[in-house]
Amino acid sequence: MTANALRGAAGVALALALAAAGPARAGEAAKEAGDERPRDAPAEPRPNLEPTPPDLDFDLLGRPAKQADPRVQRQLERRRLMLRLHPAIGLATWAALAATTVVGQLDFDDRFRGGGDTGRYHAWHRGLAYGTSALFLSTALLGVLAPKPLAEPVRLDTALLHKLAMGAATAGMVTQIVLGIVARRRAGSLSERDLAAVHQGVGYATLGAMTIGVTVLLF
Ligand code: HEM
Ligand code: HEM
Repeated sequence: MTANALRGAAGVALALALAAAGPARAGEAAKEAGDERPRDAPAEPRPNLEPTPPDLDFDLLGRPAKQADPRVQRQLERRRLMLRLHPAIGLATWAALAATTVVGQLDFDDRFRGGGDTGRYHAWHRGLAYGTSALFLSTALLGVLAPKPLAEPVRLDTALLHKLAMGAATAGMVTQIVLGIVARRRAGSLSERDLAAVHQGVGYATLGAMTIGVTVLLF
C-alpha cells in the first residue's frame, strides 16, 4: 500500500467514527445545557425579531381641543354676510350723499344767492336727502348690528378710525335732517337763511366725515 492509499483509508475511518459519535455528542451537549426536551419534540415558536413596519395611519393635525360651538358658527356666518353687504350699500350711500350735497348746494344758490328762487332743485334735494338717509340707516345697522361672537380688544386701527368717522357722519346726518326741515318751516323768516347756511356747513362736514371713514378702509 502506498502512503497516499494509507492516508485515504485513515480519513474514511475517522469520518465514520465521527458520524457514529455525532448524535450522542449532540444529546450530551443539550443535557449539559439543561434542555430536558426529547429530541424529536416539536420546536418552540421562535420570538419574531423582525422589525414591525411603522403605522402610517397617523393624524398630522391632531384632534381639535373641542368642537366648534354651532351658535358661534351661526353668528360668524351672519357677521360675514352683514359685513359683506355693509360696505357695498355703504359705497352707494357715500355716492348718494355726494349727490345730495351737490343738489343741496344748487338749491341753496337758487334760493339765497340770486338764482331767482325758482325752487327747481328743491324736490330733487328733498328726494335725494331722504333716499340717502334710508341708505345711511341701512348701512349703519348692518355695521353696528353685525354679531361679534369673538371678543376683540379695542385697538387704534383703521377699523376704529372708520367707526369714529362714521359716528361723526351719523351725528351730521341727524343734524341735517332736523336743520333742513326747520329751515323749510321758517321759509320767509329772517332766521331761514342762517339755518340754511348752518345746514350747508354741516352738510359738507358730514360728507367729509364719511369720506374719511371710507378712505381709511379702502385706500
Ligand atoms: C353709514 C355709515 C357707517 C357706519 C355707521 C359704519 C359702521 C361700522 C361699524 C360699527 C363697523 C364695525 C363692525 C364690526 O366689526 O362688528 C364697520 C365695519 C366696516 N365698515 Fe362701516 N360703517 C359705515 C359706512 C361704511 C361705508 C360707507 C363703508 C364702505 C367702504 C364701510 C365699510 C366697512 C368695512 C369694510 C368694515 C369692516 C372693517 C373691519 O372690521 O376690518 N362702512 N362699519
Ligand atoms: C352742503 C350740503 C347741503 C346743502 C347746501 C343743502 C341745502 C339745503 C337747502 C337750501 C334747503 C332748503 C332750505 C329752505 O328751503 O329753507 C335744504 C333743505 C333740506 N335739506 Fe339740505 N342741503 C345739504 C345737504 C343735506 C343733507 C346731507 C341732508 C340730509 C340728508 C339734507 C336734508 C335736507 C332736508 C330734509 C331739507 C328739508 C326739505 C324740505 O322739507 O323741503 N340736506 N337743504
